[in-house]
Amino acid sequence: MDTFEPKIVGLFCNWCTYLAADLAGISRMKYSHNLRIVRVMCSGRIHPEFVLWAFRNGADGVLIGGCHPGDCHYIEGNYKNLRRFLLLRKLLEQVGIDPRRVRLEWISASEADKLKQVVNDFAETLRELGPFGTELPEEPVLDIHPKEEAVS
Ligand code: FES
Repeated sequence: MDTFEPKIVGLFCNWCTYLAADLAGISRMKYSHNLRIVRVMCSGRIHPEFVLWAFRNGADGVLIGGCHPGDCHYIEGNYKNLRRFLLLRKLLEQVGIDPRRVRLEWISASEADKLKQVVNDFAETLRELGPFGTELPEEPVLDIHPKEEAVS
């Protein structure tokens, strides 16, 4: 039987979630193989357009990882990220995309276990939702349909 395996793009802060993913790898933890990581210097760097780009190019879900509140190396980048994230979820909902396709988590460098649990849980949610685009109306408000030649 063919089972759908979602592609997850992880937009991870260099100082925390990216290091947690590194630690998970070094510790040989096994977690869902669906994750492709993009490193950014701070979650505050993540513009909503990054998320839309990921969807247009084949992602089924986007996981944003940042430092815990109070721990951002740039003081308040993660608070900026949180505000954008909440707006983005509303926008996605408005255009017919299930907001559960975008997830924000605070994961510190030492929390490899949390990263593993979050990735596995997110992959399961996306398996239930199915491929990105299935819920989109035929003429969406945003040009967000996945490209034909989306990267794999
Ligand atoms: S440095 Fe990690 S969220 Fe800002």
